[in-house]
Amino acid sequence: MISIRDLSRPDIEEILDLAEIMSKTKRLEVAHDKLATLFFFEPSTRTRLSFEAAMYRLGGHCLSIHDVRSTSLEKGESLSDTFRVLDSYGDVLLIRHSDPSVVRLAADVAVNPVINAGSGADEHPTQALIDAYTIKKSFGRLDGLNFCIFGDLKYSRAARSLLLLLSKFKTKVYLVAPPGLEMERAITERAGQIPLEKGELREIIGELDVLYVTRLQKERFPSIEEYEKYKGSYRITLDSLKGCKESLIVIHPLPRVDELDKNIDSTPHAMYFQQAALGISLRMALLVLTLGLEERIG
Ligand code: CP
Repeated sequence: MISIRDLSRPDIEEILDLAEIMSKTKRLEVAHDKLATLFFFEPSTRTRLSFEAAMYRLGGHCLSIHDVRSTSLEKGESLSDTFRVLDSYGDVLLIRHSDPSVVRLAADVAVNPVINAGSGADEHPTQALIDAYTIKKSFGRLDGLNFCIFGDLKYSRAARSLLLLLSKFKTKVYLVAPPGLEMERAITERAGQIPLEKGELREIIGELDVLYVTRLQKERFPSIEEYEKYKGSYRITLDSLKGCKESLIVIHPLPRVDELDKNIDSTPHAMYFQQAALGISLRMALLVLTLGLEERIG
């Protein structure tokens, strides 16, 4: 589970269907003999804790590292030796790292499945699946919907994974980013089978079913001076939504900083906190499938 590229449309549909089954239960004792090992080299609130909550709800257990300084990497141990050992302790390895090659290294050395919990600016496939699940819960489908992916599209791994996912469905996607923060061409070309458009948000807002907002990824900018050039350069407010469809949903992978006005939280368009909550059911489904537990569900 390294990239959305590795999943077919039927794979994605299977995961979303299983997430819906998982959403009906708070506890399911199917992973009592399973251990997930989580190694987060970068900060996380949602991904790490929702995977831990998902494992708990499945009756399984977690080993979780979120401070690299507490590990023997500090003594000079290599990443590949570290991953080999962690792989031998558990049944699935979850990695977040700023360098996209690290999660692939883990997948190369591990015997057990590896899940990408966020790899630099490259991909965040489990977040894209949560986004898709949120959209399916709202509209019953992904096909036939109009999307705008808005914000820092150069450095947002979650936005890249979402676009790759949407390209497997019959969708129309507008990409709206500040000049200089557009999505990399290799990704838009890869997703090129769907109509990709550019435009100003105010010109397209009335067409949209889903507005996806992402923050400036401060930690990915080459320097603080470069980040300062863009800081505060975009913000979605109630005014930005004027003329939108009643059924428009606004989603955001979170965390937000200042790009999405809190006044939107109380409108029927705001779906981002439900989206974060749906992460548990979606990640339960992913763990069931990666750990091969489908037969235990019955
Ligand atoms: N959406 C997301 O990945 O959040 P965290 O960085 O808090 O895990």
